[in-house]
Amino acid sequence: MCGIVGYNGKNKAVDILMDGLSKLEYRGYDSAGIAIFDKDIEIYKAKGKLVNLSEKLKDKDLNGTCGIGHTRWATHGEPSENNAHPHISNDGNVTLVHNGIIENYQELILKLENHKYKFYSETDTEVLTNIIDYYYKKYKLGPIDAINRTMVRVRGSYAIAVMFKEYPGEIWVARKDSPMIIGQNKDGVYVASDVPAILKYTKNVYYIGNMEAACLKKDKVIFYDLNGDVIQKELKRIKWDVSAAEKEGYEHFMIKEINEQPEVIKRTINSYVLDNKIDFSKCGLTRDKLKSYKQIYIVACGSAYHVGVCAQYVLEDLTRIPVRVEMASEFRYRKPILNKNGLVIIISQSGETADSLAALREAKNQGIDTLGIINVVGSSIAREADYVLYTLAGPEISVATTKAFSTQLIVSYLLAIEIASAKRKINKKVYNNLLKEMVLLPDKVQYILDNLTKDIQRIASKFSHIKDAFYIGRGLDYAISLEGSLKLKEVSYIHSEAYAAGELKHGTISLIEDNTLVVGIVTQNNIYEKSISNFVEVKSRGGYMLIIAPEDLNINKVSNHSLIIPNTINYFYPSLTVIPLQLISYYITVSKGLDVDKPRNLAKSVTVE
Ligand code: AGP
Repeated sequence: MCGIVGYNGKNKAVDILMDGLSKLEYRGYDSAGIAIFDKDIEIYKAKGKLVNLSEKLKDKDLNGTCGIGHTRWATHGEPSENNAHPHISNDGNVTLVHNGIIENYQELILKLENHKYKFYSETDTEVLTNIIDYYYKKYKLGPIDAINRTMVRVRGSYAIAVMFKEYPGEIWVARKDSPMIIGQNKDGVYVASDVPAILKYTKNVYYIGNMEAACLKKDKVIFYDLNGDVIQKELKRIKWDVSAAEKEGYEHFMIKEINEQPEVIKRTINSYVLDNKIDFSKCGLTRDKLKSYKQIYIVACGSAYHVGVCAQYVLEDLTRIPVRVEMASEFRYRKPILNKNGLVIIISQSGETADSLAALREAKNQGIDTLGIINVVGSSIAREADYVLYTLAGPEISVATTKAFSTQLIVSYLLAIEIASAKRKINKKVYNNLLKEMVLLPDKVQYILDNLTKDIQRIASKFSHIKDAFYIGRGLDYAISLEGSLKLKEVSYIHSEAYAAGELKHGTISLIEDNTLVVGIVTQNNIYEKSISNFVEVKSRGGYMLIIAPEDLNINKVSNHSLIIPNTINYFYPSLTVIPLQLISYYITVSKGLDVDKPRNLAKSVTVE
């Protein structure tokens, strides 16, 4: 998954492109490149992070006011300057940047080699430049015809920005499945893979649909459908502000976003709870509709999947209807048997994760209602789902999700309470008490940030050398330990596993030896003793028990180090226990001196399979 950006207007394009790419670097940082049109198209590329390209451009005098740029997350072809974008067609007629994957690129290479095209890189993207050039030269009907024929011919996902030698000062764009947003202000027209890249310049954006294309002129945008007919688009306004995409004095976006959680949790609750009543009418989900569902399926990837595992416990316990949680990459190819009176919930921060998008389409193909719990407004999953409940976390820049995770938990709780109430599984009193406790969560999260951060920072440095760690718990504590373990793995590169505490003695406890770090989570008072006895077993094997528990549960005898959090009700503890779990991962990673916001081999949202 890469980041593309483009600008065509009155100002020097190089500054706007480099600034935009710096805001998209969380999408990939294996190489970067730009193409600027001045008298001719000039291309500059560099392997590695954007700073390497800035270095190259330092003494270049680029005055062109039209250009495209790219930051790469390598899928086809190793990170190298040769594989970096922009790519050009054999005779330089077509210059292009691409985000996505062309699945039938090998077949197209053979076709194009039969037409004397040569290939210099290992990328699937270079095929796009030459196949567009091929149609452009064969039918001589201009850029839109060449691009539309290409969209029909290629299989896969793409967001592309293209410059044609014979159409100087114009940028042509098209997309299928990969994200793209087009912005406009008095100084010109902007295109990007994500909002943060253009937020500094405009909040007025167009959403371009699947298999649609557009021509970006200096002062206007012309949209085309697949027949090459001009189509109209409405300019929409984005609510996020620029500062949301800046670090605001924090060392890393991850710690900034961790500290934003009280505010975004409050914002998300307030957007759905009015006068102590949950209101989903904004997305058209009525109580009658919610009442009708006999089965729920939650489908997602990575951390979003972990929200699903937490939500399963709360939904089943409150609504008494069966809930299945599925990994999207498995769900989409497993030909799942879905209950016609079911609801498929897709959870996704970016709304662009390829496997989750495909799972959504699988459910829709089977005629099952679909609900997206999404953070990025106007993203593909948000646009294709029957219903959407937006989380109000704001733009999340750090690859490791934190604040979006917390707002997804809140929306899941609200959904469980509203379905249970619609099905008369809970009465008004329970309903009110649940909401009363939920609105206390932001302050309890703030309490944890204010009172545990220093302590966690201190102990984390003790663990910067470890090779392995374990996270254990029961019930909802097991569900959230999955997230704690992933957070540590993805940013600190320390091998870690999460286990249902009761499972340990069936094998894994053999891995516990002196000072093995075991993070134990115990909040569920109905299974408290069971968890404690598992912690005792680990400690007796020499494990170092770092335990997270609420004030009212006594853990001092069994813990080597205790992290005490405020009390709440069993359902809501994941919203509190996840905070110290995030802080442990962050501070261990900082103590290892690693790049917290851009962990190796990862990208913010995975728009390829
Ligand atoms: C989490 O920190 C990771 N970035 C990753 O597991 C992520 O949760 C997963 O890729 C799903 O992304 P989405 O929420 O944007 O669909």
